[in-house]
Amino acid sequence: METTDVVILGAGAAGLMAGIEAGRRGRRVIVIDHARSPGEKIRISGGGRCNFTNRLLTRQNAMQRFLSRNPRFALSALSRYTPEDFIARMDAAGIAWHEKHLGQLFCDGKATQVVDMLVRDLRAAGGDLRLEVSVHSLARAGESFRVETSQGPILAQSVIVATGGKSIPKMGASGIGYQIARDFGLKLVETRPALVPLTFAEQELAQSAALAGIALDVKVRRGKTSFDEALLFTHRGVSGPAILQISSYWREGDAIEVDLFPGRDIAAELANLRGETGRQAVHNALSRAMPDKLAQYLVAQAGLTGRLADQSNKALAALAERAHRWQLKPVGSEGYRTAEVTLGGVDTTDLDAKSLQARAHPGLYFIGEVVDVTGWLGGYNFQWAWASGWAAGQAA
Ligand code: FDA
Repeated sequence: METTDVVILGAGAAGLMAGIEAGRRGRRVIVIDHARSPGEKIRISGGGRCNFTNRLLTRQNAMQRFLSRNPRFALSALSRYTPEDFIARMDAAGIAWHEKHLGQLFCDGKATQVVDMLVRDLRAAGGDLRLEVSVHSLARAGESFRVETSQGPILAQSVIVATGGKSIPKMGASGIGYQIARDFGLKLVETRPALVPLTFAEQELAQSAALAGIALDVKVRRGKTSFDEALLFTHRGVSGPAILQISSYWREGDAIEVDLFPGRDIAAELANLRGETGRQAVHNALSRAMPDKLAQYLVAQAGLTGRLADQSNKALAALAERAHRWQLKPVGSEGYRTAEVTLGGVDTTDLDAKSLQARAHPGLYFIGEVVDVTGWLGGYNFQWAWASGWAAGQAA
C-alpha cells in the first residue's frame, strides 16, 4: 500500500497552505481533491479578484470578526500567521493588489494568480497534488491513518482535513469533513448557511417586488451587532454586503432593524418638504429624498394617502420612524446554494488551538471552513484558511 507522511484532504485555500508548509519542513505530502482544478473557490472569490485578506484584522478585534462557539479559539493561529504574512507572500510572488473599503485587499488581476502561486509553492515544496480523486473515508491503522480514496488506500502518519464547508455544493462541497469528525467521535456545532441573502414570505414579497434592483447604503442591526454597508433588494428578498454580514447573526423568527437613511433625519427632511412641495402627493414629495419606488413602498406601508401638506406631524413621524427603523422579517435564506460560508462545524473544544490537531487523535488535524470558525465578509475567511493551514502545516 502507498505510504506517506502527510495526506491533506482538500486542495482549497487551507489545504494548499498546509501542504506548502508541511512540505517546506521536509514532510512527504500528498494533497487530494475530487475537483478537476485546485482552489476553485479562490478562483471565483471576490468577483474573480479574490478578496484574499483584510488589513483591519487585529488581535483586539478578531474575537468580534470571527464567529465561533469559542471566539478565543482562532486567536492563536490568527496571531501567528497574519494578514501581513500573506501580503508578503503576494508581494514576493509579484501579484499586484489594491485595498478597497474596510481594509479589504483584492488582486489587481485575476484570482487565479493566487491559485497558481499556491500550487507553484506546493510543488516547489515537493507536494504531490492529486486531482479528480475522491476521499471516501478515514480510519486509524495502528499508529497511522488509512485514507480510502477512489484510487485506492493511502497510509499516512498525519491527515489534515481541509474539505471546507457545505456552501455551493456544485463546486465540490461534500460534507465529508464533518463525517470524518463524527467517525472519530469529535463533536459538531450545528451548521447553517452564512454570508447569504435572506428571503421574504410571499406576502412581503408581493409588497416589495417593485423594489428589486434598488441598492442603498444602510445600517443593519440585530441585537448589539450592526453593519454600515450596502443593501440590495432582490426578487426573493434582500442581499448586498449589509445583509450578508448580518445573516451570520440572524436566526429564524428574528427581525433585523434597518436604518434606510443612516446619518439623515428623514423627519426633518419631510418637515422641510412640506413647506416646499406640500401640494404634491406624499410619495411624490418623498421621492425627492429617496428612490421613487422606495418612497411609494414606505408611504404604502405607513398607510398614508393624499398630499404631504395634509399629513399630521404624527403621521410624518411614523413614516420617518419606518424609514430609520424598518423591521425586516426574513423567513429564510437562499441556503447553501449561494451562501459564501458555513457557520458551525467541527467543535473547537476538541481541537488544539495552536496546531489544529484533534486532542484525542494525535496526527489528525482540521483546518479552514470545516472548523467552527466563520469570519465576516471581507477577506476574513481566507485569512482563517491561510492561518489555520499554516498552523497545521507547522505541526503535521
Ligand atoms: P474550500 O471549500 O476552499 O476547499 C475545500 C476543498 O475540498 C475543495 O477543493 C473541495 O473540492 C474538496 N473536497 C470536498 N470534499 C471532498 C472529497 N470528498 N474528496 C476530495 N476532495 C473534497 N472568502 C474571503 O475571505 N474572501 C472572498 O473574496 C470570498 N469570496 C467568496 C465567494 C464565494 C462565491 C464563495 C462561495 C466563498 C467566498 N469566500 C471568500 C469564502 C472562502 O471561499 C472560503 O472561506 C474558503 O474557500 C474556505 O477554504 P477551505 O480550504 O477551508 O475550503
